[in-house]
Amino acid sequence: MISRDKAFEELKQYVQSDSLMKHSLAVEAAMIGYAEKFDENVEKWAACGLLHDIDFEKYPEEHPLKGVDILTELGYPEEFVIAVKGHSDETNTPRETLLSKTLYAVDELASFVVACVLVRPNKFEGLKVKSVKKKLKSSGFAKAVDRDIIKRGAEELEVDFSEHIQTVINALTKREKELKEEGLSLIE
Ligand SMILES: [Fe+2]
Repeated sequence: MISRDKAFEELKQYVQSDSLMKHSLAVEAAMIGYAEKFDENVEKWAACGLLHDIDFEKYPEEHPLKGVDILTELGYPEEFVIAVKGHSDETNTPRETLLSKTLYAVDELASFVVACVLVRPNKFEGLKVKSVKKKLKSSGFAKAVDRDIIKRGAEELEVDFSEHIQTVINALTKREKELKEEGLSLIE
């Protein structure tokens, strides 16, 4: 059994930066959305999203391999840890499971959707796939987000690109409301 409270406490041991914390929460949100869509274990998928960058702040040079060690030590299942290892192309780890493929597909996209939300007056409300796609084509917008990874992620997951964006928008929008109740937010 994977506990969300335990996973969140573990993350806080390693992550102090607000931006990395928000990124972790956004990827968690997207993983919840996909776990529900694919009828997978929501707790496991959520924790995998939440913890995938656990090493990034303290051990950037060793990312994500240090994270693999940390998460193995913490007792997370092998499939989970392999997905974390595979979310970085640098490890040359084949993404064979749905969990691996989904983590890779949502990592950059979740951040990109948040970047889109941040520049909108109405934030999540009314955000359209079309507008996200338009911003993806604008090279000056959210430059740090790698468009090739977003494309490759959707291809590997074998999902329609527009549907994929919609799934992530829906997941983040829903999760933001829940997080607000806990005094957290993906954007504030
Ligand atoms: Fe990430």
